[in-house]
Amino acid sequence: VTSTGKAAINDCAQHALWTERATRSPMQEAQERLAQPGIISFSLGLPGTDLFPTGEFAKACGAVLEANPQALQYGPPSHELKSHIVSLMRARGVSCHERQVFLTNGAQQGLHLIISLLLDRGRQIIAENISYPGFHQIVGFYEPEVLPVSTDPKTGMDVDKVEWYLAKGMRPAFVYAIPDGHNPFGVSMSVEKRSRLLALAEYYRFVIVEDDPYGSLFYSDPPANPMRALCGHRVYYVGSFSKILAPSLRIGWLVVPDHLVPYLSIIKEACDIHVASFSQHLVAHLLNSGFLTRHVEGLRSEYRRRRNTMLAALSRQFPSDAEWESPDCGIYIWLRLPKHINATRLLDLAASQHAVAFMPGSVFCIHSEPSAASSLRLNFSYPSMARIDEGMLRLGAAVSSAEKRSTRGRAMSRGSTI
Ligand SMILES: Cc1ncc(COP(=O)(O)O)c(C=O)c1O
Repeated sequence: VTSTGKAAINDCAQHALWTERATRSPMQEAQERLAQPGIISFSLGLPGTDLFPTGEFAKACGAVLEANPQALQYGPPSHELKSHIVSLMRARGVSCHERQVFLTNGAQQGLHLIISLLLDRGRQIIAENISYPGFHQIVGFYEPEVLPVSTDPKTGMDVDKVEWYLAKGMRPAFVYAIPDGHNPFGVSMSVEKRSRLLALAEYYRFVIVEDDPYGSLFYSDPPANPMRALCGHRVYYVGSFSKILAPSLRIGWLVVPDHLVPYLSIIKEACDIHVASFSQHLVAHLLNSGFLTRHVEGLRSEYRRRRNTMLAALSRQFPSDAEWESPDCGIYIWLRLPKHINATRLLDLAASQHAVAFMPGSVFCIHSEPSAASSLRLNFSYPSMARIDEGMLRLGAAVSSAEKRSTRGRAMSRGSTI
């Protein structure tokens, strides 16, 4: 919260204690930066605006309104949409029933609902220390003890460390995982690690929250099945149409054991009554026509081209001691720069002098971590290929000037970084 905002809150005679700890999400700041004229932004996890199927949406809106004005009314979750989700899940190897599908306003709300169901204040949870900030924001309200694990850029979550905590007697309310196209690493968890984590969940009787907004966006072979495919009762799955259709629809879903659905309905009703009726009718209509399958294939080939453009630019422009992986899934590349470059300060320089922006690694940390300070996340789904080329040139120039400043600074004061 900004200082003016804090002052305003503090002016109220009584305000909840959590407001003392409230901080503004780095994503909101990135959103503002995106609006600055001339800037090329690799910051946010946005789908390509130019790829939204506006014509299909226009037709679908007309068809839905004509066939069913009830779509604008308060209404129950769409059974039709749930059936489509059951089929989508089947295509990913997950067998589930409509009764187990719970519709939400985006994956973010799905996470929030499931977390409020699982987490009592102060309990332990296990999560990758570098992970999706929207998850950190939600759990922050419950003040859990987060037991952090690291992420291998090639194979995903450090499952040995998970086992270590469990063997030491820790009993987490859940383990949070983003197994496909990880945000921010772009990595997909190896099959071996998925099976080991599931075996641990079974043995130590904990639940895995599997957050999967990116699993359909793969660029070579389809990724391994979600963990929910292998174990129905230990894995609570979170899905979303945001990255494969449009985030403004705010349609996501959970796949959970049947007995949790009534509790989720109670919490959701208290929050926002029900899922956006018009959006769910639109999505159901687009799924009826078979459009989504074709659209996702189109997204995969365009995002593959954008990813390749960014990878080629990285190879051309970056110092030999920078490191990155080629992600097979999702919309992010995690770039590790030499240790003496501080990515937060680099962002200030890059945005103010080179008109290019990205997400500094530290915003993804639960507990601060030195390796993240010199790393950054680049998104390749939002900018066109031409803008990726231009933006990467600018980023290369920003890193070179940071290098020069750092060399000068270190020469003068030994160890100072940009
Ligand atoms: C890992 C992860 N989970 C959840 C979300 C939220 O997605 P939605 O737009 O469906 O709420 C995002 C958005 O970027 C994400 O990266």
